[in-house]
Amino acid sequence: MVTASVPSHQGMQAGTGTGVNFLPGPILLLGAPGVGKGTQAKALRAHWGIPQISTGDLLRDNVVRGTELGRAAKLVMDSGELVSDSIVNAMVANRLGEADVRQGYILDGFPRTLNQADWLDEQLATESALAGLEVHAEQFRAGSTLPVVAVAMQVPYTLLLRRITGRRTCPACKRIYNIYFQPPAYDLVCDIDGTPLTQRADDVEEVFAERLRAYEELTAPVVEHYRSLGRFAEVDGDQTVDRVTSDILATVQRLRG
Ligand code: AP5
Ligand code: MG
Repeated sequence: MVTASVPSHQGMQAGTGTGVNFLPGPILLLGAPGVGKGTQAKALRAHWGIPQISTGDLLRDNVVRGTELGRAAKLVMDSGELVSDSIVNAMVANRLGEADVRQGYILDGFPRTLNQADWLDEQLATESALAGLEVHAEQFRAGSTLPVVAVAMQVPYTLLLRRITGRRTCPACKRIYNIYFQPPAYDLVCDIDGTPLTQRADDVEEVFAERLRAYEELTAPVVEHYRSLGRFAEVDGDQTVDRVTSDILATVQRLRG
C-alpha cells in the first residue's frame, strides 16, 4: 500500500520517473533500523545513477580507517545511540560539496533529529536561493536544487529484529544480505566477489532495543516534520525488495509530478 500527500509543485523535471531526463533531486529515505533504507537506496542508485549518501556507512568507513572521528563514533554507535548533530552535519556538508550530487542524491539515515532536519532545510534553501542568481544558472537546471522528497518506510517491529540480527554485509562491495530473507547463494560469502560476509557490531538484540528507542524518541518527530511539509509519502516496507523499489519509484515520480 502506498499513501502520498502531493503538494502543488513547479518542478523542474524534464521527463518521467523512468525516463533518462528525469531529475530525481534530493530524496530522503526515512524509517526505523532495519526497515530497508540501505537496500532501497542501492536499488534507487542503480536505477537513477545518483549517489547514496548513508551517514551510517560514512561513519563506519571512519571506524574502519581508524580516524579520530571513527574512534569517537564507534563507542556511540556500538551503544545504539546517535552521534552528535555537529559531527554528522559536517560529514553531510562535505559530501554534498562533491560534484556527483548534481542530478540528485539519496540520503539514507539522515536527517535523524529535528536539529539535523532544520540544518538540512536551511542548507537546501540557501542552495536554491544561490541557484536563482544568474552566475549559478547552470546549477539551477540541476536536480540538486529541487525541493526534498521524503519517503518513509514501515515494517512491523517484530520483523525488524529478524532483519537486523539476520543482516550480513559484504565489506568489499557493501552489498546487503540477510541469512533469513536474502541469503547469499553460497554459505556466507558475497555472490558478487566471494568476500566473506560480516555482521555489524550494532546488529545484536540488546543494541537494537536502544536503536529503536533512539528512533522513537528522536527520529519519529523528523518523519512528522517532513509529513507536515508535504512532498512526503509512506511506503509499505513489508513486501519483496523489488516491490518496495517499484512503490518508491512510483511515489517519487508522483511527488515530483
Ligand atoms: P545506520 O547505519 O543508518 O543504521 P539504521 O538507521 O539503524 O538502519 P540500518 O542500516 O540498520 O537499516 P536499513 O534501514 O538500512 O536496512 P537494510 O536495508 O540494511 O546507523 C547506524 C548508527 O550510526 C546509528 O545507530 C547511529 O549511532 C549512527 N548514525 C547514523 N546516521 C546518523 C545520524 N544521521 N545522526 C546520528 N547518528 C547517526 O535492511 C536490513 C535487513 O533487512 C538486511 O538484512 C536486508 O537484507 C533485509 N531486507 C531489506 N529489505 C527487505 C525486504 N523487503 N524483505 C526482506 N528482507 C529485507
Ligand atoms: Mg542502513
